[in-house]
Amino acid sequence: MKFPKLKIGNLTPKYPIIQGGMAIRISMAELASAVANEGGIGVIAGTALPVEELKREIKKAKNKTDGILGVNIMFAAREFKKLLKGSIEAGIDLIISGAGFSRDMFTIGQEYDVPVVPIVSSLRLAKISEKLGAAAIVIEGGNAGGHLGTEEDALPLIEKIKDKINIPVIGAGDIVTPEDIDNMFKLGLDGVQMGTRFLASEEANIADNFKELCVNAEKEDIVRIMSSVGLPANAIRTRFTELIKEDKAPKPVSCNKCLKKCTEKFCIRDALLKGRKGDLEEGVFFTGEGMWKVDEILSVKEIFKRIKNYNS
Ligand SMILES: Cc1cc2nc3c(=O)[nH]c(=O)nc-3n(C[C@H](O)[C@H](O)[C@H](O)COP(=O)(O)O)c2cc1C
Repeated sequence: MKFPKLKIGNLTPKYPIIQGGMAIRISMAELASAVANEGGIGVIAGTALPVEELKREIKKAKNKTDGILGVNIMFAAREFKKLLKGSIEAGIDLIISGAGFSRDMFTIGQEYDVPVVPIVSSLRLAKISEKLGAAAIVIEGGNAGGHLGTEEDALPLIEKIKDKINIPVIGAGDIVTPEDIDNMFKLGLDGVQMGTRFLASEEANIADNFKELCVNAEKEDIVRIMSSVGLPANAIRTRFTELIKEDKAPKPVSCNKCLKKCTEKFCIRDALLKGRKGDLEEGVFFTGEGMWKVDEILSVKEIFKRIKNYNS
């Protein structure tokens, strides 16, 4: 396949492939450094981590790679700004913000010469990001993994936005196979961000039975739930997703106010933590809609090998 050159501020990865940040300790140093070592951009998810732990994780990743490392922090996190500054102190190369952004986030990035890339799901937010000084944008559709800013699929959304923006455009949502990546590059995108494919990797920090769920998932096993963050998300159907849909999920027993806003109908943080550990009863397992395309757990090296060897 023909790879476009992705330039984000002063950063140019060998391959225009970003591993999407996956919170609650899924994308940590091991996964991010493996991706960076293959020539992509590896991303540690900072949301819901104590600042000191995030800094340690960034330093650990930096010891494992000379490649490009980013941090993903959800704007909805109460500690957003502290996590952002801590990441810069720890020497991060790039900041990606999910679920919203603030004006001062761009100012902080400019002050420390660290490019800032927001994830957006509308033309309006894409334009505002460009005006505020984003180094690039990720356009993410409703078929993606994680919390969603829209229910519209990535492809129509990308087509609506990409030609109206003059900074690099990275697509996200249901980009899983080498063919999916190639199709995005043929559309003229500058890069892709992928979560689902890297979730089903050897280096993703999730329990083996979560990986098994990923490999076995068929199209109809992925359901859309309303998270207590107040945003929709895709997840593998389990007992707990059924309870959420019926509005019967158990209310949080205690709450550490990790989010700026939360419906407090249930605790998504706890449910995701349990999911990461493979708790099939009380866990929630976020994935993108494209998980049905994955039928084996691969190492990051093998994922990149297949992408590099794909002939369009
Ligand atoms: C389990 C999981 C957790 C995620 N956590 C976050 C997150 O904390 N912040 C964020 O901005 N995006 C998050 N995402 C979204 C990814 O970074 C990426 O943009 C998305 O997965 C791309 O769509 P795809 O899964 O179809 O490849 C998450 C995705 C998954 C699958």
